[in-house]
Amino acid sequence: MTRSSAPGKVYLFGEHAVVYGEPAVLCAIERRARVGVEPRDDGRLRVHAEDLSLDGFTVEYGASAGDRPDVDVSESLVTAATQYVDSAIEHVRDVTGDEETGFDVTIESDIPLGAGLGSSAAVAVAAIDAGTRALGTTLESDELAERAYRTEYEVQDGQASRADTFCSATGGAVRVEGDDCRSIEAPDVPIVIGFDGGAGDTGELVSGVRSLREEYEFAADTVETIGDLARNGEDALTADDLEEAGRLMNFNHGLLSALGVSSRSLDTMVWAARDAGALGAKLTGAGGGGCIVTLDPTPETETALSFTPGCEEAFRAGLAETGVERLE
Ligand code: PMV
Repeated sequence: MTRSSAPGKVYLFGEHAVVYGEPAVLCAIERRARVGVEPRDDGRLRVHAEDLSLDGFTVEYGASAGDRPDVDVSESLVTAATQYVDSAIEHVRDVTGDEETGFDVTIESDIPLGAGLGSSAAVAVAAIDAGTRALGTTLESDELAERAYRTEYEVQDGQASRADTFCSATGGAVRVEGDDCRSIEAPDVPIVIGFDGGAGDTGELVSGVRSLREEYEFAADTVETIGDLARNGEDALTADDLEEAGRLMNFNHGLLSALGVSSRSLDTMVWAARDAGALGAKLTGAGGGGCIVTLDPTPETETALSFTPGCEEAFRAGLAETGVERLE
């Protein structure tokens, strides 16, 4: 079995606005998806997943599009995870030119699904890397990020930026603006995450912001202002000014709320973190439910969040310096 892992990520600044070409700043975090791929000669694809905040599942189906799936995949998150693997394997076939081989794919992940920590990007990156290596091809990081981006783009009906997949493939802190994706120097950011146990529907939330932006001038202006905050946030981070970075994260959360993508539980966790003395707190990713990201070098925020009603899990997340890791 060929195995690769890829990290999840948080948005420090700029989600949603990045979809319209504004800059975003993200950090890869040491929570990973590990994907194992074993070629099989009957052309079938079998996906087995554990630890995806679900009870685990197995899906098996044939190589042709008309022959899938042959087990019940009614749970929507399971369906989504399977779609990412399916699309990732199509890229493996495209890169290697091998249309015949089937695959056993095993996913283990400690990144909650659909919660703003980039689980789908990490699965896509690790699956493409392990799948291509299983067939004897090792992709450069840029091509891996591009293929993983196209996987997300296809599954999410064209509603994806390059941010998550580039960050997961590359690791560290990154800045993404349109097609321009690059690593940036950032201090060792003291990240604490709060998770409400839920998930948001990225496609629906992105569509909601798109409609608002078309209907209201304030929403278009808000998207631009989020871009300005991301530029200022990048400057604050590279100057090691965590207080300013935190303040800008607070502004960013307010603007995301105005765009309608926060939720009661995300707002509750944000306020609990601020009350505990966090330098800044905001939702991360598409929103609607899932995770918040906060900056706090002290233990206070993590402790306060773990006692906050509606917060299912609070944890400190170290920066993942490396993106994709080739395990064997
Ligand atoms: O919730 P996530 O991790 O899928 O992040 C979505 C981020 C958006 O900016 C809302 C969409 C995108 O593809 O950039």
